[in-house]
Amino acid sequence: MKVWIDGGIVSGHEARVPVLDHGLLYGDGIFEGIRVFGRRIFRLEAHLARFAASAKALDLKLPGGIDGVREILKETVRAHGTDDAYIRLILTRGDGQLGIDPASCPKPRLICIVAQIAIFSPEKLAAGLDLLTSSYRRPAADALDPRVKSLNYLNNALAKLEARQRGGDDALLLNDRGMVAEASVANIFIVRNDVLQTPPATDGALEGITRGCVLELAAGLGFATREATLGRIDLFAADEAFLTGSGAGLVPVRSLDGRSIGSGSPGPVYEKVRAAFTDALIDLGTPV
Ligand SMILES: Cc1ncc(COP(=O)(O)O)c(C=O)c1O
Repeated sequence: MKVWIDGGIVSGHEARVPVLDHGLLYGDGIFEGIRVFGRRIFRLEAHLARFAASAKALDLKLPGGIDGVREILKETVRAHGTDDAYIRLILTRGDGQLGIDPASCPKPRLICIVAQIAIFSPEKLAAGLDLLTSSYRRPAADALDPRVKSLNYLNNALAKLEARQRGGDDALLLNDRGMVAEASVANIFIVRNDVLQTPPATDGALEGITRGCVLELAAGLGFATREATLGRIDLFAADEAFLTGSGAGLVPVRSLDGRSIGSGSPGPVYEKVRAAFTDALIDLGTPV
């Protein structure tokens, strides 16, 4: 693991964050999770644009602007050295006083972690996930806008914990109106009669970069796609369901709350889209 922090690159065990960083004290900050495939950073510009938009939402300044962040990211990926990796880019409010006032933090702190991750085992990826509907809700957009990738992931973490403690692989989070939002750190798609559907951001879904890519690839393969408000019933009635995210990639879902979805195994539409996604991984990447 290599980490860019406070102006230099260090190894994972040397990287330190001061206790007065408001990212730690209050979750005051933003992040991005980005994939590197074959020494190419997947959809780098889309991730940088979302990072910049999240920064604006928190009135945080990107140190060195987007160009500065892009260079730091590439430099850290090169230092890590592997062909495939995961990047965690973080911008915190920086060091301040113990009170919550962001005005006590003169300098945001940028951190770039490059490491290897495997969120689900190869067996799980092949068999499909068992999802459980969470008792935790995705906050409404007027409470915590899902388009901002902030460091406030407590309800996502608690939803994951609850799902694991109940024997599931991941959580399905509903929004404050009881409609489907997304999984703990991934977007959700269903397929019914060869039409792909995924909840809109207004229903509590992050505008996922992988989600956007899947919508484009599926349309290119001739499938109809749409953003639609979904209830649990739509998952039960679906032919297929799958998750998308930078960390997990494309992952089939085989059940929700103990009920099989479709045939209970990765479906044909999922397989076609995943094959197209695997091809696109290199094409849509920026060389480091
Ligand atoms: C809450 C949430 N939803 C969806 C996603 C998937 O988004 P992306 O494809 O941009 O990684 C993430 C990724 O971290 C996430 O945290």
